[in-house]
Amino acid sequence: MIKPRVVITGVAGFIGSNLADFLINRGYQVVGLDNLAYGMESQIPVAVEFHKIDITDIKIVNYIQPRDVIFHLAAKNCINDCQQDPVDTAFNNVYGSVCLFEAAVKKQAKKVIYAESSALYEGSTLLPTPEAEVKPESFYSVSKYSEMMFAKAYAKHYGLCTTALRYFCVYGPRQDYRRTIPPVMSAFIIKLLRKEKPIIYGTGNRRRDFIHVDDVNEFHLQCIDNEKTNGEVYNLGSGENYSVKEIYQAIAKKLNSQTQPEYKPALPGEAEITLADITKAKSLGWQPNTSLEQGLQGLINYYQETGIPWKISMS
Ligand SMILES: NC(=O)c1ccc[n+]([C@@H]2O[C@H](COP(=O)([O-])OP(=O)(O)OC[C@H]3O[C@@H](n4cnc5c(N)ncnc54)[C@H](O)[C@@H]3O)[C@@H](O)[C@H]2O)c1
Repeated sequence: MIKPRVVITGVAGFIGSNLADFLINRGYQVVGLDNLAYGMESQIPVAVEFHKIDITDIKIVNYIQPRDVIFHLAAKNCINDCQQDPVDTAFNNVYGSVCLFEAAVKKQAKKVIYAESSALYEGSTLLPTPEAEVKPESFYSVSKYSEMMFAKAYAKHYGLCTTALRYFCVYGPRQDYRRTIPPVMSAFIIKLLRKEKPIIYGTGNRRRDFIHVDDVNEFHLQCIDNEKTNGEVYNLGSGENYSVKEIYQAIAKKLNSQTQPEYKPALPGEAEITLADITKAKSLGWQPNTSLEQGLQGLINYYQETGIPWKISMS
């Protein structure tokens, strides 16, 4: 089968840069778009044809060709930052996504695979949570909900082919550790390697479904190749969850650290528990293969090998 050209928005970010690597290693031609607001150019694999552009710029249409498969990952996605600035959140995540859908229709792209979020379930108490249970509350999740509704409208009225991916807590190398509130695993590893006190917001009892980026990438391949994914939405989690405290203890044990974390007030706009019902994704033959043990060790190795903890300033 001839491989389609793949366009990735948000290619300089965590999931986008890992996806670009993964696809290039499998022989795909990859075009990457990013405004570098959060991502880093140094993370983009050299084989990617990179263009620095904002998805809200209508010139984005010039970078899409007929039959392209587009992964739309660019977004403002630190929940805390989104709570502080709903206008910018809507501009990037809603208006920006509509510009991208419009460009995809104009250029007759084959399909758009776009990022939703488990944050869409934050008002629900049903666990594990199936795809039908959508209850957004924070500005970030409302922006993802709006993106979803626009995608549905583009599908209905203009025939746009889409697949929506509801990522739970994706982790792995290149997580954005520079954001105001960095992802827990990276934050804990960096601080402990620096012999500093990591911060736990709230009691540490909030539970999260973590999924390794390599497992997510295996599902991305299905979205390119498997027509059954057209028009569908999938939860991408591991189907298991761990408390923030448990993650802290697992990392501290691996690093042989006795350092006690510092506790700060819980962050607003975050769910107490996330746990994905992954029955639907598994029905395609996919399943997560990276254990928490392997994933954490890989992340620790990444930070030790790159020396990032000693090169950056972090709050
Ligand atoms: N990482 C997770 O655990 C997770 C969970 C749920 C949903 N998601 C979603 O997955 C997608 C990718 O997440 P990530 O963790 O890789 O985030 P990230 O912040 O690492 O990457 C996002 C990238 O998008 C770029 N970007 C932001 N606004 C842009 C704009 N207006 N124009 C062009 N580029 C822009 C940033 O510079 C960055 O490189 C996002 O849509 C996010 O909401 C991620």
